[in-house]
Amino acid sequence: MPEEVNLNIVVKAGDISSIEADAVVVDLFEGVGRPGGATGVVDTALDGAISKLIMHGEIKGKLNEVTVVHSLGRVPARVVAVVGLGKQKDLTLDKIRGLAGEFCRSLRRLNCRRIATIVHGAGAGGFEPEVSAQMIVEGSILGLYRFRKHISKEPENHDVEELIIVERDKAKAKTLEKACVRGKILAGATNLARDLVNEPANMMTPNDLAKAAEQVAKTYRLGLAVLDRGQMEKEGMGALLGVARGSCQPPKLIMISYKGDKGSSDTLGLVGKGITFDSGGISLKPSDNMWEMKGDMSGAAAVLAAMSAIAQLKPKVNVAGVIPATENLPSGEATKPGDILKAVNGKTVEVVNTDAEGRLILADALGYAVKQGLSPLVDVATLTGACHIALGDFRSGLFGNNQELMDKIVEAGTGAGERLWQMPMDEEYKELNKSEVADIKNSGGRWGGAVTAAQFLSEFVGDKPWAHIDIAGTFMSDKERGYLVKGATGVSVRTLVNLALAFSKN
Ligand code: BES
Ligand code: MN
Ligand code: ZN
Repeated sequence: MPEEVNLNIVVKAGDISSIEADAVVVDLFEGVGRPGGATGVVDTALDGAISKLIMHGEIKGKLNEVTVVHSLGRVPARVVAVVGLGKQKDLTLDKIRGLAGEFCRSLRRLNCRRIATIVHGAGAGGFEPEVSAQMIVEGSILGLYRFRKHISKEPENHDVEELIIVERDKAKAKTLEKACVRGKILAGATNLARDLVNEPANMMTPNDLAKAAEQVAKTYRLGLAVLDRGQMEKEGMGALLGVARGSCQPPKLIMISYKGDKGSSDTLGLVGKGITFDSGGISLKPSDNMWEMKGDMSGAAAVLAAMSAIAQLKPKVNVAGVIPATENLPSGEATKPGDILKAVNGKTVEVVNTDAEGRLILADALGYAVKQGLSPLVDVATLTGACHIALGDFRSGLFGNNQELMDKIVEAGTGAGERLWQMPMDEEYKELNKSEVADIKNSGGRWGGAVTAAQFLSEFVGDKPWAHIDIAGTFMSDKERGYLVKGATGVSVRTLVNLALAFSKN
């Protein structure tokens, strides 16, 4: 199923200048004239080539700068890459992730199969070597990702096969291995989400999404239930079914569960928007960039992929993923503006805009999660263009009814390199969703669109602690940037996994 980056990770104790590999990677902070540490050792082996390049201003140490020096036999590796760490005081763990993505892609362009690297930011940088190692593993696997499944031509450069993390201290090398495994699981899960999102909508229908969930459940021994249209009718999921009306593809409601704490009945509920294609429905979207709406199931992909990582990491906590999946298409049978639907919790919704479909399917999924006894609830959705406008590509929007839960999510996201920004939830915004003919309407208009959408969702969570992550601005990248490549980012996977770990009793 997934287009895995099959990167073999090895931890070696020893001296970087004597490692057998195609490339060795050392680093330099901006403004440092004489390299020390591992970089100094390699510089000496290269007869001062690195210091000369620094002296001439070819190497500046600027963040993500990659300078390749050919070793010509003076060290076993064919090339030495010197990567810039930027200013010492500005270095963060997420920058180390990005750096790894950048140098791995640079070295792939030079056809390196085996890359050896020191643990950047440890030592003078002040970070723990095992934390740095995890960042490097994550950044490498994420940055090397490419979606070539449907491209016939062989790639110009072959895959990088092995990443060797070199640690001088033998005793420490052992602790690095665990961190590397964690990094591999987190990045692998993120790439799984990317695969699901990048897949075109004709190959990622609600049924295909259910099959992907089946495969994850089977591989990692998770519980799985898939409700079909008939079962949804019995449950009273009129909002989800209303969105599905225009499509020839049958809708699915997927529930996938991990039981890591058998002694407890508390279960964290993760809900992911699974619109496998959003045309807007009768309120049709303009055709420019409509193709991006194949990614309108990014929340679903994040939940599914997070479940796969949680199953591998085995925290002592119960987690269930709920994924409402359908297309949003216009047809003679499609829901029309003005139609009224009844959601699973009995609330009636006036559909003033069929393009505000995400909140409709989430209404039923959240209501169903409440019925299943899941709590707290966290949903992830490409919900509003307004959130993209508010925060750009760098932060996802965070909303909710429980500050403690939102604080936990911010922390989980920061550790994951997935920044969030909490948005307001003042009561006044709720007024904008008032309908003349039903309990609520599905759009509060243009202004504050991300907030009114979140307020809409809050009507379906009862009194449960709940948070909502809007990833409309972050689910896709239009350029290569650090460990991100063009296309799906897999955003929120690592946040959700970290959150589950934070709720874990071990
Ligand atoms: N899936 C879209 C939101 C979206 C837009 C995600 C661009 C990613 C990139 C959502 O279903 C939608 O169409 N929202 C509307 C809501 C409006 C009609 C109230 C929007 O944001 O325009
Ligand atoms: Mn829409
Ligand atoms: Zn949508």
